[in-house]
Amino acid sequence: MKQQDDELPEGVSRVRIWDPALRVFHWALAAAVIVTWGLGKFGPAIMTLHMYLGYAVIGLLAFRLIWGGVGPNPARFSHFLFGPKKTLAYAATLPKRRPSYWPGHNPIGALSVFGLLAILGAQVATGLISDPDDFLNVGPLAKYVSFETARLANGWHHRLSLVVLLLVGLHIAAILYYRFWKREDLVTPMITGQKAVREADVRAPQNTPPTSPSA
Ligand code: HEM
Ligand code: HEM
Repeated sequence: MKQQDDELPEGVSRVRIWDPALRVFHWALAAAVIVTWGLGKFGPAIMTLHMYLGYAVIGLLAFRLIWGGVGPNPARFSHFLFGPKKTLAYAATLPKRRPSYWPGHNPIGALSVFGLLAILGAQVATGLISDPDDFLNVGPLAKYVSFETARLANGWHHRLSLVVLLLVGLHIAAILYYRFWKREDLVTPMITGQKAVREADVRAPQNTPPTSPSA
């Protein structure tokens, strides 16, 4: 899997980090969330299409939960679950103007991954039981909860959609920060799977995360 690349510094090479399923998941999720959001805000008053796209988001999130347990190492949740010490140590390296060469999601990126997945989970859960009291756009599972709960869920579905927007905005801002400040392209690896990483990190047993952030 390893590719030689003369432009990379000594001890760094391009290896496959992101598996095809994870890459398809990512771009499908991005597209589905953007379209679902757009249909919710600007689509037809009858939300049938919005709900169908919402089901696609549910399917993708379910896949990610499974893949986080049984997928290849860099996709596993345990691979990017870092304690406060490692996270703070990595955060201290963020202003440095050089690539991290991290073999997967770095500790700060990991926070954003968990944050995005959790908020999307809450968004779809509130959508499913949402009752706007218009006899029209009632979530398919609203009948199983009390009317008060369904109204509450509706309020949260609206509020959370703004949090989704904020987190996606932050996510893209972080990618741009890496690209233009840290001179590290994270997008191409999410397309091709190949990422420039330190050879020592991928030689470690089980492709475990680096012990010290030397970025
Ligand atoms: C609604 C839009 C988006 C959502 C919901 C989203 C969500 C996510 C999630 C959940 C991950 C973690 C992947 C995993 O499951 O392990 C991720 C990673 C990533 N996303 Fe997005 N994404 C969105 C849009 C974008 C866009 C437009 C770009 C490109 C500019 C992008 C670039 C990336 C990259 C490069 C990573 C890997 C970061 C790393 O190396 O740690 N995403 N995204
Ligand atoms: C990532 C997934 C989702 C996103 C980003 C999203 C986003 C939105 C947005 C932006 C609105 C309009 C809110 C407003 O006008 O302030 C909305 C409304 C709504 N969504 Fe979702 N939604 C998602 C998933 C779902 C799912 C899975 C369902 C149910 C199957 C659902 C059911 C509804 C309903 C019933 C409304 C109309 C509420 C009303 O008229 O008050 N949504 N959604």
